[in-house]
Amino acid sequence: MSVRTIGVAMNGVTGRMGYRQHLVRSVLAINEQGGVTLSDGSRVKLAPILVGRSEAKLAELAARHGLADYTTDLDAALERAEIYFDAQVTQARVKSVLKAIEAGKHIYAEKPTAESVVEAVALSDAARAAGVKNGVVQDKLFLPGLLKLKRLIDGGFFGRILSVRGEFGYWVFEGDWQQAQRPSWNYRSQDGGGIILDMFPHWHYVMENLFGQVRSVYAKAVTHIPQRVDEQGGTYEADADDAAYGIFELDNGVVAQINSSWAVRVNRDELVEFQVDGTHGSAVAGLRDCRVQHRATTPKPVWNPDLPVTARFRDDWQEVPDNAEFDNGFKIQWEQFVRHVAEDAPFPYDFAAGARGVQLAELGLRSSHEGRRIEVPGL
Ligand SMILES: NC(=O)c1ccc[n+]([C@@H]2O[C@H](COP(=O)([O-])OP(=O)(O)OC[C@H]3O[C@@H](n4cnc5c(N)ncnc54)[C@H](O)[C@@H]3O)[C@@H](O)[C@H]2O)c1
Repeated sequence: MSVRTIGVAMNGVTGRMGYRQHLVRSVLAINEQGGVTLSDGSRVKLAPILVGRSEAKLAELAARHGLADYTTDLDAALERAEIYFDAQVTQARVKSVLKAIEAGKHIYAEKPTAESVVEAVALSDAARAAGVKNGVVQDKLFLPGLLKLKRLIDGGFFGRILSVRGEFGYWVFEGDWQQAQRPSWNYRSQDGGGIILDMFPHWHYVMENLFGQVRSVYAKAVTHIPQRVDEQGGTYEADADDAAYGIFELDNGVVAQINSSWAVRVNRDELVEFQVDGTHGSAVAGLRDCRVQHRATTPKPVWNPDLPVTARFRDDWQEVPDNAEFDNGFKIQWEQFVRHVAEDAPFPYDFAAGARGVQLAELGLRSSHEGRRIEVPGL
């Protein structure tokens, strides 16, 4: 069967996400497995063109993986590419993506697609007007834990879903006595940082795809740690929100409450967990695992603070089996986008979906600023 090669200009590959998840775990992994198989049995391989600001860093990275094509010239890269991929810092995204749309390239981009809903919608409109395919990373949907949750929903396990409780976060070190494990731009507003802009787009597509359309948001954004130390050892004012406490009402009456924090210490099984309670059963899903409790096996606790707790409530839950092999979520979505480009396979995670995620972040910030619940209008 034939093998076709598609050039992909990859911008931001020296960054955490661009390098590890997108270049190594997705694009190079796809090539190592022989490419993406299309419905007619033919294959598509990807030819990455590494794009960035530092020629030296790109050269080192290219050499490490035996790649030949790298450049600091985005225009030149676009000439050789069919797909443009963007994992730059959020602030740099819009300009580069617009340039790629003008060059007639299909676009795949990290979230958030832009810092403001006006820009995010403009990107979606520009892509549609130019007739180029467009997609935004929605990796959490492909996590084993969330795939198990989706399986439970599709199988009718929950009955009527009542509520969703999400808990995301971990302690991000301040950088003084232990190095911070996330880039410093995330903690500066002027550099596109903030946990709402980072995480609400994720929560939006999780809610939209699993539970229902988001109709309103109330959020409280806080900067718990106002001073941090950057990569160079300099102290800076961390003015972006590093925690957000949100309540979302969905169109079907489901209430979702999601805490996001980089100033919380983990006392959970995973770095993100969603508890879903329904009339017939409940589930707690993390990145990989998911456990359930059916109404028939639900214990009947009685509130009595005078007696010590003897019941081990967690023992009453049951692990959901894998029943499948789970590949890297970023890679699965890359394969879907490549099929979308190569044979017009469906790909619902487009720039319009990306814009809805940015809209929720923007309204979440406004809700916190104004101290009130805000309705989410259709875009
Ligand atoms: N899908 C996810 O789970 C997930 C997780 C983390 C981050 N992200 C998103 O990925 C993007 C990158 O985040 P990261 O954590 O990899 O950041 P990073 O700081 O590690 O990497 C950023 C990349 O952008 C480049 N860059 C930095 N400043 C730039 C500028 N002014 N102009 C152009 N390029 C610049 C850097 O050289 C680097 O290649 C962000 O938009 C972020 O929201 C997504």
